[in-house]
Amino acid sequence: MDISPRLRCFSDSHHLEEFKDEDVRTVTSVEQEKVEHSIKEVLNVYQQIHSSPQPTLLREQHYQYLKKGLRHLSDAYECLDASRPWLCYWILHSLELLEEPVPASMASDVCQFLARCRSPTGGFAGGPGQHAHLAPTYAAVNALCILGTEEAYDVIDREKLLDFLFSVKQPDGSFIMHVGGEVDVRSAYCAASVASLTNIITPALFEGTPNWILSCQNWEGGLGGVPGLEAHGGYTFCGTAALVILGKEHMLDLKSLLRWVTSRQMRYEGGFQGRCNKLVDGCYSFWQAGLLPLLHRALFNDGEVTLSTKSWMFESQALQEYILLCCQNPGGGLLDKPGKARDFYHTCYCLSGLSIAQHFGNKDLHNELVLGKEENRLAPTHPVYNIGPEKVAQAFQHFHKLPVPTDRGAATAAAASSTEDQL
Ligand code: FPP
Ligand code: ZN
Repeated sequence: MDISPRLRCFSDSHHLEEFKDEDVRTVTSVEQEKVEHSIKEVLNVYQQIHSSPQPTLLREQHYQYLKKGLRHLSDAYECLDASRPWLCYWILHSLELLEEPVPASMASDVCQFLARCRSPTGGFAGGPGQHAHLAPTYAAVNALCILGTEEAYDVIDREKLLDFLFSVKQPDGSFIMHVGGEVDVRSAYCAASVASLTNIITPALFEGTPNWILSCQNWEGGLGGVPGLEAHGGYTFCGTAALVILGKEHMLDLKSLLRWVTSRQMRYEGGFQGRCNKLVDGCYSFWQAGLLPLLHRALFNDGEVTLSTKSWMFESQALQEYILLCCQNPGGGLLDKPGKARDFYHTCYCLSGLSIAQHFGNKDLHNELVLGKEENRLAPTHPVYNIGPEKVAQAFQHFHKLPVPTDRGAATAAAASSTEDQL
């Protein structure tokens, strides 16, 4: 459905949504005012140039930016030398959202590169010769499933991957990010995501994990990185999506989670903040808005919402306006907020959030709400894995034909960590 609604951010009443400090100036209130001011400037310039505003996704510019990034990265990316599978994933997922095919030779080069990131201890490292880590393991498996070729699937050594997952599993059900590393709820999601996609879940692998994740939900309603910490969108997404994979999301306090996440959409900006009293950021368009389809389904299964519930519980149009008007670099790539530089992480998660808003955000659940021209429409994304839904189905189909490796549990864990110590 191609509609051109009156833009919310150009309505006469939009200024009523501005932040009011009630005469209490703090570092936080000043920062918030600065952000709103910068957004106001962007909107003013846009309005001066466009007599009838119709936000446009800069498809071609984003495509060129992404295509170049797959082969050449600037010096600015040196600091991501331990996150190279992430760069593959961010770029490949952005391209699939834009429905831009990856040439076969390029796909094969990515497979060969990711094979070099595969660690002898199982799992993937941030770069060739580095230690295995759950975050690049998640990114590499997602990237390979997006490519979805036999060559890509064959890069994953499922037995070794399972050994690696056991090597980072903790007795309380949590996971450390890497051998000798920190625990937080990201790791549970990364482990659940790769294990479910590749069909290596054994009875022992996630024993205790749902309860550990549930203990991260705090009085705010969202989840912190570990029990007792402040609720944050990134961790809340990870914990909730991991529970969905493990079939235990109904054990969350769903209503308080819903209240927390919907309160994170900013009144003036339209985008989401990651935590209470912090600033809007384009990447939360996915980490926060991506929670809403998960929550909607969980509440539906709980009988809390019915098929006649006519809303996805967030302002899809406001989010699309924020992404399209405030987060696009005119030369391609997307960003956190006006004044910030573009990067591949924000390009991936702004586009993922835009896709969620288009496909899951409409008041009429059976129709999409694509703000602006029809050409703004992105491909849908799977709200649990954040890759194309058909790529998830294809991976399930491929790996579910293969047997689940035997559960070598604790013995393997001990062997894997001592091997890691020697590297
Ligand atoms: C900023 O915190 C943190 C982020 C923008 C990333 C959050 C995302 C995650 C934790 C999810 C990671 C997911 C996987 C799969 C590994 P900040 O304190 O700088 O920013 P804030 O002020 O917005 O809270
Ligand atoms: Zn961000």
